[in-house]
Amino acid sequence: MPTAFNRRDLIVGAAGLLASAPLESALAAAMPDVAGTEAAALKDVAARRRFRFGTALSYGALTRDPAYAALVARQCDLLVAENEMKWQWLRPTPTTFAFDRFDAILGWGEAHGMAVRGHNLLWHQPKWLPAWLNAYDFGSAPHREAERLLTTHIDTVTRRYGTRIKSYDVVNEAVNPKDGTLYETSLSKALGGTEPTLDLAFHTARAAAPHAQLVYNDYMSWEPGNDAHRAGVLRLLEGFRRRGTPVDALGVQSHLITQGLPTASHVAALEGPWRQFLDAVTHMGYALVVTELDVRDNNLPADIAVRDRGVADFTRAYLDVTLAYPQLTDVLCWGLADRHSWIEGFEPRRDRAPRRPTLYDTALQPKPMRAAVAAALAAAPIRTG
Ligand code: XIL
Repeated sequence: MPTAFNRRDLIVGAAGLLASAPLESALAAAMPDVAGTEAAALKDVAARRRFRFGTALSYGALTRDPAYAALVARQCDLLVAENEMKWQWLRPTPTTFAFDRFDAILGWGEAHGMAVRGHNLLWHQPKWLPAWLNAYDFGSAPHREAERLLTTHIDTVTRRYGTRIKSYDVVNEAVNPKDGTLYETSLSKALGGTEPTLDLAFHTARAAAPHAQLVYNDYMSWEPGNDAHRAGVLRLLEGFRRRGTPVDALGVQSHLITQGLPTASHVAALEGPWRQFLDAVTHMGYALVVTELDVRDNNLPADIAVRDRGVADFTRAYLDVTLAYPQLTDVLCWGLADRHSWIEGFEPRRDRAPRRPTLYDTALQPKPMRAAVAAALAAAPIRTG
């Protein structure tokens, strides 16, 4: 890291303290480099507490942005393909698989000593399934045909990669955040319900990849407005346990959204329900994975120094609570630099100021959020499992 970062971070942090009376963690994040967190790669900071650290990476970024790929290789020991394992990318037709792009990401990750996660085997929303599957004719025995399609897909992918992939998001986002109910898809309709469909996905994955950690992944978060989503996810996880569905962990995506400059009282209000949720999940015996960390800088001023400080403080506060759970050992960001984040395309800011959702800016320079993540990892209780 450039040495200037220390000084800049301190100044920005101090300004943030005066302007918004924010968290103590702002100060901690801005402290001189006591733990060597700024000079060290994030994977090494994480490893000192026996965590792993990684990011999503797309085929486009990998093949067209060597400087970014080098940054990912230096900072990460975990990798996940941003899109290339999803049905929409992997399944051009009902009878074919297009593995080249995912293979390229996996091979590159392995060549750089990274563990690569599988994301995902079933994104259970029509919006994210290929058009051909949404319009599929399941014929005269729809149940059997849906079962065949789903199990063939999961079998083919997991057997192809064998022990090269040790953790899968088997099911992604099956819960409707509005009311906590489960989404239906062409598959679940043909199969006679969403729960049997998701159960089948997990059972198939367990049989074909018995070595792998099987994850249910979703974006219920700690901001206000997530109550129905969290309740729905809890119901789903309870159901998995009741029915003996083989699910090992909850993927906590962690697409955070600031509500303004985070103050201590604001964060304290978020913390209670969030702990309650994570307590309930872990009491059921699930492990936790932070799978897709990034921040939508909503209701923060466009001013970059102020905005970056707000994002960093919010991230630090969130990670302090979340990383305290010993069931959590892996932290992945959804992109490491602003020039490769999906957020701008997904939800631009109202004032059109370019989003700053990740750890590194568009010039690949570290931002305060990078220091906040490093500090949170350095401060997390050491993993013992
Ligand atoms: C996003 C990708 O980043 C985009 O490139 C793509 O257009 C849509 O999907 N939750 C998830 C991820 O589980 O797979 C999503 O990734 C972001 C939200």
